[in-house]
Amino acid sequence: MTSTMRAVVISENGGPEVLTRAQISTPSRQGSEVLVRVVAAGVNPFDVEARNGLAGRCGSPELPAVLGCDFSGVVVQSPYAAHPLRPGQEVYGVASVPRAAGTYAEYVSVPALQVTRKPKSLSHVEAAGVPLAALTAWGVVVDVAKAHDGQRILIHAGAGGVGHFAVQFAAYFGAHVVTTGSTRNSSWLRQLGAAQVVDYTAQRFEAEVEAVDVVIDLVADPDVARRSLQVIRPGGLLIHVPVTDTTGLAEEAESAGVRFTDYAMAPDATCLAVIARLLDSGDVSVYVDDVYDLDDVADAHRLLERGHTRGKLVVKIAED
Ligand SMILES: NC(=O)c1ccc[n+]([C@@H]2O[C@H](COP(=O)([O-])OP(=O)(O)OC[C@H]3O[C@@H](n4cnc5c(N)ncnc54)[C@H](OP(=O)(O)O)[C@@H]3O)[C@@H](O)[C@H]2O)c1
Repeated sequence: MTSTMRAVVISENGGPEVLTRAQISTPSRQGSEVLVRVVAAGVNPFDVEARNGLAGRCGSPELPAVLGCDFSGVVVQSPYAAHPLRPGQEVYGVASVPRAAGTYAEYVSVPALQVTRKPKSLSHVEAAGVPLAALTAWGVVVDVAKAHDGQRILIHAGAGGVGHFAVQFAAYFGAHVVTTGSTRNSSWLRQLGAAQVVDYTAQRFEAEVEAVDVVIDLVADPDVARRSLQVIRPGGLLIHVPVTDTTGLAEEAESAGVRFTDYAMAPDATCLAVIARLLDSGDVSVYVDDVYDLDDVADAHRLLERGHTRGKLVVKIAED
């Protein structure tokens, strides 16, 4: 391991052009952290929001910063000799962004509770597309909505990074899944487990969807959340995941007799280990839309900002 590493840093907030290739100090492992050689890093809307300085309630990193939350790679140093994560093991997880350096870099040092064994059946590129999106999907579908047999759940933006996991988790736990997506994603979303797909480019979902127990809203447009109140049964739940301004939404939900919550993803290696088992068993899959070199991460940001990627974008940083 060398004392410096390749990374992409931002020194100011702004457009994709502020993502700059740099040679910076390799992080030193501290306390209970695991030092990981990053093979691939996932790209998330949070990275774009942090780059813009618009991450809202998720917080913004101090500048200069290395962005990137997701990683898949190989353990270089463990917290102690008998630690279950040993040097050489293949792992995946979530970095502590925005408080520490991210994963658009050759190495990252992360708390051991945020890293676990990589799904064996996945390449590093595939595994890097999983952590933040799948943990968010698990959090809203399992922990908050408590998906179960017969429950009716509407998931907005089922084709996105979080959405494609949310559709699969909700169907896996027996829920009747309705989702919104554009024409090109319709049959794929059915394959993932959706019972009904509403093409939001041609139809208004509130005219097509019978009453649901829960809406999981993954679209950063408060109007979608407001219209969703029309399709939730009395006493049902609206979960708004984007970090957009939700002023007034809680009050509108209360007037409509609907419960309302926002959401914040929490890194959790135990949950990631469960998700790894579902990926290895084939019950759940990750879809990687495109793969970029580290030097081209700005192009990944440009595409993600257009808002129509299917599944995940991943940056490949090293050979497996
Ligand atoms: N609070 C948290 O902890 C947390 C954690 C993770 C993510 N988030 C937020 O959750 C949101 C979703 O994240 P993500 O990673 O899934 O984003 P993403 O991958 O960028 O989502 C892209 C998808 O959105 C779909 N889409 C766009 N507009 C739509 C509309 N009006 N109706 C239905 N689908 C639409 C697109 O489908 P088509 O191509 O078919 O249009 C595309 O597949 C983001 O705002 C993100 O910041 C929050």
